[in-house]
Amino acid sequence: MKNVITNPFVTGGYAGPDYFCNRTDETKRLASAVSSRRNITLISLRRMGKTGLLKHFKQQIEHKRKSSVVVYADLLPTMNCNEMLNSVSTALFRVRQKERNFMEKMFGLMASLRPRLTVDPLTGEPAVELKVETASEIKAGLDNILRLISEIRQDILFMFDEFQQIAKYPEKNTEAILRSVIQAYPVIPFIFSGSSKHMLEKMFMSAGSPFYQSTELMYLDRISEKDYSEFIKNHFHNAGLDIDDDSLHRIFRWTRLHTYYVQYVCSILYEQGSLHTGEAEVNRIFHRIMTDFEPQYINYRNLIPAHQFRLLKAIAAEDGVDQPTAGDFISRHGLTSPSSVSASLKSLLEKEMVVRDQEMWQVYDVFFSRWLQYHYSEG
Ligand SMILES: Nc1ncnc2c1ncn2[C@@H]1O[C@H](COP(=O)(O)OP(=O)(O)OP(=O)(O)O)[C@@H](O)[C@H]1O
Ligand SMILES: [Mg+2]
Repeated sequence: MKNVITNPFVTGGYAGPDYFCNRTDETKRLASAVSSRRNITLISLRRMGKTGLLKHFKQQIEHKRKSSVVVYADLLPTMNCNEMLNSVSTALFRVRQKERNFMEKMFGLMASLRPRLTVDPLTGEPAVELKVETASEIKAGLDNILRLISEIRQDILFMFDEFQQIAKYPEKNTEAILRSVIQAYPVIPFIFSGSSKHMLEKMFMSAGSPFYQSTELMYLDRISEKDYSEFIKNHFHNAGLDIDDDSLHRIFRWTRLHTYYVQYVCSILYEQGSLHTGEAEVNRIFHRIMTDFEPQYINYRNLIPAHQFRLLKAIAAEDGVDQPTAGDFISRHGLTSPSSVSASLKSLLEKEMVVRDQEMWQVYDVFFSRWLQYHYSEG
């Protein structure tokens, strides 16, 4: 009725406030930080909803005041400073391209970095490519971008998604350069966001690092069961479908109330279109999801060293473990020794296959965890 979307449970991107569950307090907190020009860093597990929240907040700001300028740059695909600068310039160009002479102005200011306008082959959107070779060119490029933004006489906000990426660039001084440029523009509020708690805390909380105490940290938690239930039921009811509380409860347990996985289960349940969703329907969907992803998990099994895979199975079988190096856990699952478990855990952590969540070590990918549990819980 309001939108052309046929399935209200979105599993990729942001589709507008009607398809976005809650996050009211979180949005308010972002708004209050931004309005008092405090920079803020948003941290959560992967797929918990950081990008969704940023897009939702962006939408709200732009809806409230048409003239607002929100520059959103996703650093995930960037591998070095040059690519970061391309991504930031592209983000700025896209929000301002309709303004008269903006391209001339931007490209004029960036002339020494040889700007080129290209087109994203997949989306057809314009993109800016620069050529930077030295640290001083990076600094100058960033400085020019922020100068252009600060000259915009409207509400402005800058969002850096997947910010931890900059710590992986080959250039060693990126953090210091960014920090010094950002500091020179106190009128521009920044939101940084990312999933590597460890890396972001190191950047923002350890004395001696350039960004030390420069932002407020905000940990994005799960959406509450109550809010999620209401959201899901409403969308089912709007389509003349019904889902019972018991089923919702089971879905929340099975997905650990992890946003992406809840969305995924609900999108498939909705697509099935059963007039009533109860135990049998939910079981069928859990089974279908495990089967659908099975080829990928079998691939993991072939790629992950045997001891690490055994540890994953053990963690999944117990639905999370507090102390994987404890003797009884090791003997229950034939895991050799505490030192081999430590080494495997470290390696799995680096690969983002496990995560410390709610005081437990868990297999990070919830569906993979359920698949392991289903197939291997006998040991
Ligand atoms: N409040 C919400 N209501 C409904 N769906 C949501 C909500 N927040 C996020 N989602 C959906 O959940 C999925 C994961 O969210 P999102 O991509 O925002 O997570 P993320 O924390 O940015 O993950 P990553 O760290 O992998 O980038 C997306 O498909 C998104 O559409
Ligand atoms: Mg994201």
